[in-house]
Amino acid sequence: MLVAWGLRAPVWWRIIHLIFMPLVVLARGLEFPAGFWLGGFIFLLLVFWRTDTSRVPLYLTNRQSCRALLTLLPAKACRVVDLGCGDGGLLRFLARARPDCLFVGVEHAPLTWAWARLRAFGFHNIRVRRESIWTHSLAAYDLVYVFLSPVPMGRLWAKAREEMAPDACLVSNSFPVSGQEPLSVIDVDDRRRTRLFVYAKHSSEP
Ligand SMILES: C[S@@+](CC[C@H](N)C(=O)[O-])C[C@H]1O[C@@H](n2cnc3c(N)ncnc32)[C@H](O)[C@@H]1O
Repeated sequence: MLVAWGLRAPVWWRIIHLIFMPLVVLARGLEFPAGFWLGGFIFLLLVFWRTDTSRVPLYLTNRQSCRALLTLLPAKACRVVDLGCGDGGLLRFLARARPDCLFVGVEHAPLTWAWARLRAFGFHNIRVRRESIWTHSLAAYDLVYVFLSPVPMGRLWAKAREEMAPDACLVSNSFPVSGQEPLSVIDVDDRRRTRLFVYAKHSSEP
């Protein structure tokens, strides 16, 4: 915890470091059967899947950002994809607000995908696919939305430039494409000061 403090880690990291060891000691004292830990591991695996290789954990777009994204949708009926859709909350928000548009979610984590799919029942304009974002074609979409991490942004931009329709745009929550000038940046009025970076296929080269 002191090292985290010295490294100026956010407060929540310091708290995690502080309570980690006491919790380990407490948990060992409770003498849960080994299957409990295996069950916990499998549950986390099904929710987070290959975070070790994707370097993208699960966190969700907040309501204020959903509203900001809504204002970016074209006035005409359009097709939107959320690459790595998590629990599908964003898809449901947008699908309710814009019944004339089609919203597609792509998710590779089995349990997260199943949950998003289950919650999409009853929505005529939501599709949830269990697929990798790297194999899903972006050619059919007017707007591609991502909320990932800094790690895949370079590769994602290369894919988007190759596959997106000429007038489509890519919106990235919080993580800009390094060295690429965005068409615009939306400052969301929320506590974490979310920024939405909007890129068009024809955005100037670095
Ligand atoms: C930060 S969450 C964002 C969830 C949702 N888009 C939202 O904004 O509420 C990123 C999601 O992307 C998924 N993901 C990461 N890499 C992926 C990949 N290669 N293919 C499909 N999904 C992926 C993760 O499992 C996670 O659910």
